[in-house]
Amino acid sequence: MESLKDKIIMERLPQHIAIIMDGNGRWAKEKGKLRVFGHQHGVDAVRSSCEACAELGVKYLTLYAFSTENWNRSSFEVDALMTLLANALKSELKTLNNNNIRLNAIGDLSRLPKTQYNSLMSAIDNTKNNDRMTLTLCLSYSGRWELTKAMREIAAKVQEGVVKPEQVDEALIDKHLATAGMPDPDLLIRTSGEERISNYLLWQIAYSELYFTEKYWPDFSKEDLYEAIIDYQNRERRFGKTSEQIKK
Ligand code: IPE
Ligand code: IPE
Ligand code: MG
Repeated sequence: MESLKDKIIMERLPQHIAIIMDGNGRWAKEKGKLRVFGHQHGVDAVRSSCEACAELGVKYLTLYAFSTENWNRSSFEVDALMTLLANALKSELKTLNNNNIRLNAIGDLSRLPKTQYNSLMSAIDNTKNNDRMTLTLCLSYSGRWELTKAMREIAAKVQEGVVKPEQVDEALIDKHLATAGMPDPDLLIRTSGEERISNYLLWQIAYSELYFTEKYWPDFSKEDLYEAIIDYQNRERRFGKTSEQIKK
């Protein structure tokens, strides 16, 4: 029997997949457990998606792990998430290196506890020469935070006279984003049935294909990822042109 994976057209693989990993809390609640239990199992789904993307040859995987707004959750939950992050950085470093995956992180990282910040920086440094895939964790991240920061930096340059207002173009803005140097996501996946962006990669997803699934994040398997990719490959990305122009 042909597997889902075999249906993927390798020549048309998305170069960059971004995921809003949502539904950990509801997954746990349905099992009569604490929300934190869902986050713990979410780590396994991160591992399998990461592995699936690397195996296929996806170059960039960008995961929304903790938003600027998530700081407003109970300190119990925030602490648990931070502990999970520290543990995962410790336990997964070897796997990242064995799989030739480079770790990257974007967001207002200065808000992370010192221990997490330091282990994150050392994991990033430790994997910097890996070139099979870049795994970007969005931590204490939001699109508006990123755009505000970029605007401030550009305004300062204009004020210094290094940049003229008419030189502010899309390329310059791109360069000031946390994702500078990365291609925009081709495919954005959100799990858990919610159909919203929740302040994610606002600038970068201008032309991303959106894919929503009812599955809660801890249940999101390699097969689910293949399904999302196949769905993506059945779409026509027109970028404002007509279908006839694209087919030519
Ligand atoms: C996503 O799952 C993980 C984070 C936002 C950190 P949630 O914790 O949002 O789970 P739900 O959406 O409440 O089910
Ligand atoms: C988005 O999920 C953030 C992450 C997945 C890290 P949320 O669960 O925080 O989003 P909203 O608040 O329900 O939109
Ligand atoms: Mg949620």
